[in-house]
Amino acid sequence: MSVVEMAVRPQLADVAEPHVRIRDLAVRYAADAPLVLDGVDLDLFRGETVALLGSSGSGKSTLMKTITGFAPIASGSVQAGDFDVAHLRRGQLRALRSHVGQVFQQFNLIGRLSVLTNVLTGSLHGAGPVNMLGTFRSADRRRALELLDRVGIAHKAGQEARSLSGGQQQRVAIARALMQNPRVILADEPVASLDPKMSRTVLELLRSIAREEGIPVLVSLHVVPLALAHSDRIVGLRHGRIVVSGRTADLGADQLAPVYDIDENEGDE
Ligand SMILES: Nc1ncnc2c1ncn2[C@@H]1O[C@H](COP(=O)(O)OP(=O)(O)O)[C@@H](O)[C@H]1O
Ligand SMILES: [Mg+2]
Repeated sequence: MSVVEMAVRPQLADVAEPHVRIRDLAVRYAADAPLVLDGVDLDLFRGETVALLGSSGSGKSTLMKTITGFAPIASGSVQAGDFDVAHLRRGQLRALRSHVGQVFQQFNLIGRLSVLTNVLTGSLHGAGPVNMLGTFRSADRRRALELLDRVGIAHKAGQEARSLSGGQQQRVAIARALMQNPRVILADEPVASLDPKMSRTVLELLRSIAREEGIPVLVSLHVVPLALAHSDRIVGLRHGRIVVSGRTADLGADQLAPVYDIDENEGDE
């Protein structure tokens, strides 16, 4: 077993418990604003990849933000590991966020810095005062290199992040997320800026991480075939409500149609 595997392998004791459990969640951004999530239930179990499907404005990003405490929960419960996100105690927010690895559409790398340094910044999560760049511990550097190897781009470690292709940058971002030893990974439209071939590669990488490291991965997508091809379960959101939820193997384009019925009020982004 590699160092990486030992570090992120789940405890057997909690395999059967969902790592994230959301019940009857409602979110609104202001007291007099409409609900943007309403009656949402979601479990994320270790080892599985759940595709969150929905058109623009349906609430995908908001649902992810509730898990990291960035969205205003109006009612309902959000449990992430040991954290009761709706009722966090003082000082718990940083710890919660250090447990959650995040991957974004625009990669969010620091372009001028090397690939290796970008991955190392993942180890700063949850740390106290930020270390000076360049003073990372050698154990961290070894681990960052192992993770770059895990995502298939160890040979790019010394290059500036901005010199990489989009698909390669997203793999760096995934390695950076893993550097946190995350208990859950949230990937918000991680392939929306990638071509179809890269999209498949990145989604399969996320899925293999979920399976092999036992970390649940929630990945938002707006393309039905990608969700059908690269997930174990699909949850479909429409106007902030779950309209489809099931095992991917049991779903097809017909069952997913309710997620995308044409509606003139949607897609205002
Ligand atoms: N910070 C915010 N303040 C107010 N409204 C917001 C905010 N973020 C998102 N919304 C609204 O919440 C709804 C859901 O948005 P979002 O979660 O970004 O959907 P998606 O990620 O599926 O595109 C939209 O109507 C959007 O305008
Ligand atoms: Mg979004």
